[in-house]
Amino acid sequence: MQHRRKFLKKLGLFSAIIGGKQLFAGLDADQPHIYTNNAPNNGNKSLTGEDANYPKNNDVQIIDSDKIINKKSKTTTELLITTWNFGKLANEAAWPTLSGNGYILDAIEKGINFTELDPSERSVGLGGRPDRDGHVTLDACIMDEMGNIGSVVCMEHIATPISVARKVMENTPHVMLAAEGATEFAVNQGFKKQDLMVPDSYREWQEWLKKSEYKPTVNIENHDTIGMIGMDKNGRLGGGCSTSGMAFKMRGRIGDSPIIGAGLFVDGEVGACTATGHGEEVIRVVGAHRVVMEMRTGLSPQAACEIAIKDIAKKLEKRGKKWNEVQIGFIAININGEIGAYSLQAGFTYAVRSYTQDEVISAKSLYQ
Ligand code: GLY
Repeated sequence: MQHRRKFLKKLGLFSAIIGGKQLFAGLDADQPHIYTNNAPNNGNKSLTGEDANYPKNNDVQIIDSDKIINKKSKTTTELLITTWNFGKLANEAAWPTLSGNGYILDAIEKGINFTELDPSERSVGLGGRPDRDGHVTLDACIMDEMGNIGSVVCMEHIATPISVARKVMENTPHVMLAAEGATEFAVNQGFKKQDLMVPDSYREWQEWLKKSEYKPTVNIENHDTIGMIGMDKNGRLGGGCSTSGMAFKMRGRIGDSPIIGAGLFVDGEVGACTATGHGEEVIRVVGAHRVVMEMRTGLSPQAACEIAIKDIAKKLEKRGKKWNEVQIGFIAININGEIGAYSLQAGFTYAVRSYTQDEVISAKSLYQ
């Protein structure tokens, strides 16, 4: 908490309220106005086998929900797992809510807000890298244990898209809002519009413009999407994810993170999963849903994550793509509080927070 306060103070966010109504008084005045709609347009540059051990999935046995509920451990307690190293601080921001008997989505929103508002994290929220035309566009989604969902895609000017996604879930008859409509909705809900480009992102973008090569970087600075899943004292599962997406992406590009089923899926009777990495590959296998459905058949979170990654590897190979140019990571939990994590290649980390654990762990991977 002390770290968080210091960080907010540095930003001048003395009156920031993390949660429902974001009123970032003083922030606009402190932020350099470097966002521009007149950025140079770089044209329409194009975006740049069978595994014998692969489990066959023809006769999927769907385990009855009641049986799954009966398997739930009476000793289940509060738990958070979050993608990448930055997950540790996000967990720290979320933990007081969770350990204070709070609701899982309140904890998740607080945790993700922390990373969204950190301008030094350049793949999420404020300070996220822009698209190739200089627009910082954000994606996020949130899901509870009952199938309530909310999502914003390609939203500009609002630093905390996870909170806007939650408002979509709670205050609209819809599940997704996009682009200007999402920003307009956010403003109507009390969120403050602001410039999201920070000087470092601007400089990186200017540097990128010299060659304008679209080449996603694997494990970029050991982070990407923040995806957080967890369980509260009452055994309620929930999840959220938030990202600025691929750096210097095409205008309008959407990744997996705001797409329920791809970047995030929660089944209150089974478990939860979230994804990070190259969103196009996650969408192709509807990754997070795939992992949760594998858990529904009775597999552990670890085995389920491994199956989804192997499926992605298989599809990459079939399409003649190189695995070492792609990174995907999944983290998952089940209702018994078991954890799984797996990535396509080495370098993916995740942070675990419970009463007995507070650490960042290096995930096992298919390729080293
Ligand atoms: N996983 C983030 C993205 O592809 O946008």
